[in-house]
Amino acid sequence: MFNIAIDGPAGAGKSSIARAAAAQLGFIYVDTGALYRTVALGALKRGIRPEETDAIVALLPELEVAMEFVDGEQRVLLNGEDVSEAIRQPEVSGAASTVSAIPAVRQFLFDLQQNMAKEHDVLMDGRDIGTVVLPDAQLKIFLTATPEERARRRYEQIKDTSDVTYEEILRDINQRDYQDTHREIAPLKQAEDAVYLDTTDMSFDEVVDAILSLTKERQA
Ligand code: DC
Repeated sequence: MFNIAIDGPAGAGKSSIARAAAAQLGFIYVDTGALYRTVALGALKRGIRPEETDAIVALLPELEVAMEFVDGEQRVLLNGEDVSEAIRQPEVSGAASTVSAIPAVRQFLFDLQQNMAKEHDVLMDGRDIGTVVLPDAQLKIFLTATPEERARRRYEQIKDTSDVTYEEILRDINQRDYQDTHREIAPLKQAEDAVYLDTTDMSFDEVVDAILSLTKERQA
């Protein structure tokens, strides 16, 4: 199998870029952030706050997290219920970042991610894919952009449907960057053998093309 690992901070455009590149390559796109969000949602639904580590660890055996692909699009299931939309609520983002720092949560989701990559050509995105989940991936990319540019892009996406301000988005991005890079277990960091791609001054198509040509180089 050919595995591509894409890691990077929140709002770098990983998911839309990875989705487009995977479609062109005929690979399955696996969004691992969705899995952490699903665990976070499972806790929130039961009134457990993301900081209540012991309660979350105790809850894990009751959570069944699964991925399904419908027309090439990943759906996530929590105990059989499709929660693909519910996990996108803003309160789930922060909660996912917090629960993802719990070692038992990372362990809980590990096999699910590795098994996907064993069975399929995947393009998988997350924070620790190149460093921990798929250390032998044939191509690793660290995709990033400045916090201001990431906040600007997100603001452009949601300004018509939400009252949230640019400043609030920037604050949220800075806070998640801090949490994701400073946690003890599997922090966000570039794998030594990853290609660093700063997309601040690149267009969407330029980034997708860069990934496609890197893939072709490695496949040759
Ligand atoms: O990519 P995202 O914003 O949907 O991810 C939500 C949170 O999950 C993010 O703040 C960090 C965590 N995460 C992680 O720790 N490891 C991954 N491979 C993917 C996401």
